Amino acid sequence: MQVSRLGAPLGARLENVDVRNVDDAAWQEINRLFCEYHVLVFPRQSLTPEDQIAFAQRWGNLVRHPYAGIDAYPDIIELRNVGQARDINQHWHSDMTYNIAPPKLTMLYAQEAPTIGGDTAFANQELAYEALSEGLRTTVDGLRAVHTAEGLASAYGEDPKQAPRAEHPVARVHDETGRRALYVCRAFTRRFVGWTREESAALLGYLFHHSSRSEFQARQVWNVGDLVMWDNRSVVHFAVHDHADEPRLIHRLQVDGPIPA
Ligand code: SIN
Repeated sequence: MQVSRLGAPLGARLENVDVRNVDDAAWQEINRLFCEYHVLVFPRQSLTPEDQIAFAQRWGNLVRHPYAGIDAYPDIIELRNVGQARDINQHWHSDMTYNIAPPKLTMLYAQEAPTIGGDTAFANQELAYEALSEGLRTTVDGLRAVHTAEGLASAYGEDPKQAPRAEHPVARVHDETGRRALYVCRAFTRRFVGWTREESAALLGYLFHHSSRSEFQARQVWNVGDLVMWDNRSVVHFAVHDHADEPRLIHRLQVDGPIPA
């Protein structure tokens, strides 16, 4: 296994790994690298949906998305290029934070990739937390926030009032490393617990902006056969839709995680 960095703030590429044949010792090392770098890229894979599912299940049970999934494999979402205006992932988010126990990781496998563009951007939320002043860190350490899927529900023609919702700490502690990360996102975080939306807006707006500062970011530039996994406990991500009508087809699944502490 050869490890090279994806970017200074996060990410590693692991060459010479066939994820269909990973023994327990190699898996331990991959998980260690995952906790250290937050995003792992395995280039040149050749996977069936069953292979992708089997590799992801090394980390736990799969989590079904409430609004999507392909018929033959309900745990897999097929991400296709449906145009910029309809790209629901073009915003900074950690996945399904509106669940009480959101998925700890998401895994994408590229079946088709644009000749240029269509990258996935990531931002390291441990760095974002550490870069806050001591005063603001102390403030966010004492806050919890409400997350909802109401925007997603509307996008899928469902009743936003029935959408899932959850409360989480604004800074969460990683269950494997003990490190702290900022845990809010523009897509799903609505207000602080005990505060109105209006009262929350200014500080949340600051945290959304801060969390995606360019010095926390790295990008995955997709090639067919890339398998990418990211840690929803410590990064937010953004699907950059700058590839016009060029085909981009990705199989996406998620693995369940702990209740954020
Ligand atoms: C996602 O937000 O889960 C998908 C990211 C992407 O398509 O790059």
